[in-house]
Amino acid sequence: MLVASQPALRHFFYPVCPISKLKQGPVEFTLLNQSLVLWLDQNNQPVATENRCCHRWAKLTKGKVIDGVIHCPYHGWAFANTGQCIKIPQHPERPIPATYCLKTFKCLQRYDYAWVALEDPLMPIPEVPEFESDAYRVIHLENRPWHCSALVALENIFDTAHHHFVHQYLGDKINPKPIPPTLLENTPYGMHFKSDMYNYGNNLQYKAWNIDDDEMVLKRDFHWYMPFLVKMTLTLPNNLKNVTLLSFTPMTDSSLQWINLVMRNDTEENVKASDVIQLGMTISYEDQEILETVAPDVPLDIHEQCHIESDRPSILIRKRFSALLADLGDSEQRTYDTLNKPEGQNTSQKTKLNVY
Ligand code: FES
Ligand SMILES: [Fe+2]
Repeated sequence: MLVASQPALRHFFYPVCPISKLKQGPVEFTLLNQSLVLWLDQNNQPVATENRCCHRWAKLTKGKVIDGVIHCPYHGWAFANTGQCIKIPQHPERPIPATYCLKTFKCLQRYDYAWVALEDPLMPIPEVPEFESDAYRVIHLENRPWHCSALVALENIFDTAHHHFVHQYLGDKINPKPIPPTLLENTPYGMHFKSDMYNYGNNLQYKAWNIDDDEMVLKRDFHWYMPFLVKMTLTLPNNLKNVTLLSFTPMTDSSLQWINLVMRNDTEENVKASDVIQLGMTISYEDQEILETVAPDVPLDIHEQCHIESDRPSILIRKRFSALLADLGDSEQRTYDTLNKPEGQNTSQKTKLNVY
């Protein structure tokens, strides 16, 4: 599936940009191949429109925001948060036609981010009570682009077979056999997955998790919110809860914005935010390095690849995407014609799925 080429995926909210960044001026973001400009209106609420002026299609991200109104850098036309052109400096005396406007998109502020839906969203932005709770603090890890498919990155977060091979600072360096999940179930919004992990401590973990255990079992509880948002709760032996909200916001078929914010029931005196960030970033760079080598066109037909037990979350995810596309009359987009594949890999003849 080529994620940015699926119209069905336009019907969801995605976090795209920290509100703090919008305070410095207009921001450009490509969401599902749609170039957007975002800015803050006169009420400090985020606005998202297409990133080309209706006059000569100049990029508005090079323009200025004055009192919540964006001004095109080319000839100075001004646009309100409705997308309507409200000023043409060359003809200040003439009425402006209603058709002189920008296409706008649904845009909301939540969890310190601007969230955008390109079409009517099928689901609301998920509730994350820890973000509002006084018992938790919020730490923003850096957000940055990855050159891989959002679906590849999403599946990796539930993949218990890779820790041993990919991560120096997470998981089990001795035994490659993962612990079977304690829960894997469909939910109306996606999936609930519980998975424990053998882990050997290291200096980054000792500081970031305030522990001194050399060996422990990490209790992990995941909620997947379709299409590319995950809430992961890690419970440490010292009762620290480390809740991560993670979005693999799809930019193109083969690129995403990695957005990661952490909520914890401890304080800066217990653990410095900089130590939390250092561990999170180190683990994420280990993932990014391998995921950017993985082919971005993930087949929804599970017969096209080979699977092991730890791939069951991926299989569930691909079935849910298949059902979503069918529900919305969308069809899976691929990089090549599956009929041209080598003999034996033609999926038109269905065989029983084999999970080794
Ligand atoms: S291109 Fe924007 S005002 Fe002319
Ligand atoms: Fe990983």
